[in-house]
Amino acid sequence: MSATLEAPRPAHGIPASGPSADQTASLADFGGIEITDIDLSQPLTEPQRDRVMRLFRAHPVLVFRNQSLTKDQQYEFTLNFGEIEGAHVNRLIDSKNYAPVHTVSNLDADGNPSEILRERGNYYWHSDKSYHAVPSLLTMLHAVELPPKGGETQFANTAKAYAALPEETRREIDGLRAIHSWEASRIQCGGRPATPEQIAERPPVDHPLVRIHPDTGLKALYLGNHASHIVGWPIAEGQALLRKLIQHVQQPAFVYTHRWQQGDLVLWDNRCSVHRALPHEAMGVHRRVLHRTVVKGSVPY
Ligand code: OGA
Ligand code: MN
Repeated sequence: MSATLEAPRPAHGIPASGPSADQTASLADFGGIEITDIDLSQPLTEPQRDRVMRLFRAHPVLVFRNQSLTKDQQYEFTLNFGEIEGAHVNRLIDSKNYAPVHTVSNLDADGNPSEILRERGNYYWHSDKSYHAVPSLLTMLHAVELPPKGGETQFANTAKAYAALPEETRREIDGLRAIHSWEASRIQCGGRPATPEQIAERPPVDHPLVRIHPDTGLKALYLGNHASHIVGWPIAEGQALLRKLIQHVQQPAFVYTHRWQQGDLVLWDNRCSVHRALPHEAMGVHRRVLHRTVVKGSVPY
């Protein structure tokens, strides 16, 4: 008998689960679209704006290539889609206080790359801010510093995943509501536990497990790391259902893996997709930095 060799577990401790980057669908098969002929650093012309809005209504993920936006330019582009979340900050101050255009990264408080992830939840399937009564409409990331290997972002099309469920399951889950909370989210990703202040500030909310996309009318599963259980069901049964549905959602056919290139700007619709980051190699050595903006959405129905 041969001894089993176990690869050493990386210090970040994010379990390898779900499809790997090379198993997943193309952007087009997933339902996304690439746009290469618009310079987002300039104000959009009326026809460009119409086109981008039309594409956003029809695709859960838009990939723009070869962009180079300052934070101010990203802010201006984001405004096309609606109200930017957390806009109370003086946006002329380009610093950590520049909250409307913030950063996702693997950097620690001193700005050094680290395997101890401050944004741990980003590595688990989720829809942004679903722990809010009014969650995010869209999120966009613009690549600033990329690691040599790994660090992709995966997106799962939750409308396609819903449509592919057996009719019996669809009937069983239509009308259910799931509890989402910051506290549960922290527990489920093994992150620093929520403080009593955070729990008071972000009390649990419930949302339809199957939500209707206001533009397309399509139903989509609404779930992820912030969702913990089902209203009116025993907790364990609700957890089991959500686990089963996430397994379904992350099937390779429903997933697109975005391999970041310098100059990429990617935006996604949180109403009909979930996403997660994949860890990159040697996270304690290589930096991964992206500029992020988020647009406020509406109450899911
Ligand atoms: C986010 C997020 C994933 C990534 O910014 O909301 O989940 O790949 N990011 O950084
Ligand atoms: Mn996210």
